Amino acid sequence: HRAGRLPGRQDWSSWPHYQAAKAGFRGYWYPVCFSSQVREKPRQVTLLGERLFVIRDKGKVFGMKDRCPHRGVPLSYGNKQFPGTVSCVYHGWTFDLETGDLKAAITDGPRSPICGKVTQPTYDVEERLGMVWVYVGDGEPPHPIDEQLPEELVSNPAVIGARIQPREGNWRFACENGFDEGHAKYLHRTALWRLFKPMPVWNTTRIVKRGRWIYRVQQEQFWEADFPGLGRWSGTAWYKLKPPKETKNIGNTSTHREVNPTIAAQEFPGFASVSMPGVLRIAYPTFIHYEFYVPVDQDNHLYVGVLADFKQGLKTLPFYAKYLGAVRWLFHGQFSGQDKWMVEVTDAPPEKLYRPDDSLLQWRKLAEDVTEERLDRLREQGYEPADATA
Ligand code: FES
Repeated sequence: HRAGRLPGRQDWSSWPHYQAAKAGFRGYWYPVCFSSQVREKPRQVTLLGERLFVIRDKGKVFGMKDRCPHRGVPLSYGNKQFPGTVSCVYHGWTFDLETGDLKAAITDGPRSPICGKVTQPTYDVEERLGMVWVYVGDGEPPHPIDEQLPEELVSNPAVIGARIQPREGNWRFACENGFDEGHAKYLHRTALWRLFKPMPVWNTTRIVKRGRWIYRVQQEQFWEADFPGLGRWSGTAWYKLKPPKETKNIGNTSTHREVNPTIAAQEFPGFASVSMPGVLRIAYPTFIHYEFYVPVDQDNHLYVGVLADFKQGLKTLPFYAKYLGAVRWLFHGQFSGQDKWMVEVTDAPPEKLYRPDDSLLQWRKLAEDVTEERLDRLREQGYEPADATA
């Protein structure tokens, strides 16, 4: 197998749901593209290995399985011949976008007996944060999307800068990389972004669970260290930045910058946190950076990076200037490019973990526990999930 792709081996057996979730966890909303990219023509999407399309009709976005039940042609090759419907390009079977019902088979005349006997599977779709979100589940009504989005994003006005990029590699490698304790201090030591955020050489960490999130709480920090027989290593050496003065707190990390009141009010236990179905939150003093790792299939994911600045009105203008002028390149570009590279070349399992990998283990355990609860709940309600996963 290629590095960055998953072998079929069964080496994550302590987390059976996680191990099985090669193509993602069912029962969640996933961002698939920008709202502006969905017009009146079908747009193909692959999500959790399923092929669907999204299309806009009278302002609302609909989602439907992208396989015509007649002869298996992609329905997305078709178009809207009648309002509120999509017609297959091949023989003109015409489906209602809302219900999926076959309303007409154009080439069999107005009273085709097949009508009313076929229903095409549809997907629940919502628009949030300037993006289109699709729910993939097991037939149960989806939970409200606002219950899944980060709470502070739903309840506070914010300006958003977002980037969506298709990337190679399994979505789990991307999520694990995001929450990985050790890499921020070593892999990213050469990133220009580190000019703004000095990091210790190493630190001790505790993982804390609060609500749907687990947090990395840094304890003792070491800005320099002597490695016996090797020499001294300094996290601050190459750009000569001093560790920040202890003036304000964001998460449990001190900063010399004023902390935005909305971010301060969250009282995050740690500045890095992760939640299902693969969402990373990094809280900085003046904005929050989110990463959504969207499973496309077993070997590909969408990297969705979102910067939220909790401001309103004219105060938002400096954010756009900063985002377009610098952050997009330094952070979303170079820094994130280093992560992309590692996700492509990660080749686990097998793996041999070290102390900072408690962050990975706790994330896997969270995924495991939450999925176990979901499956129990579904079975109680009479649904029959085939598995936790696609
Ligand atoms: Fe779609 Fe025939 S294949 S109408």
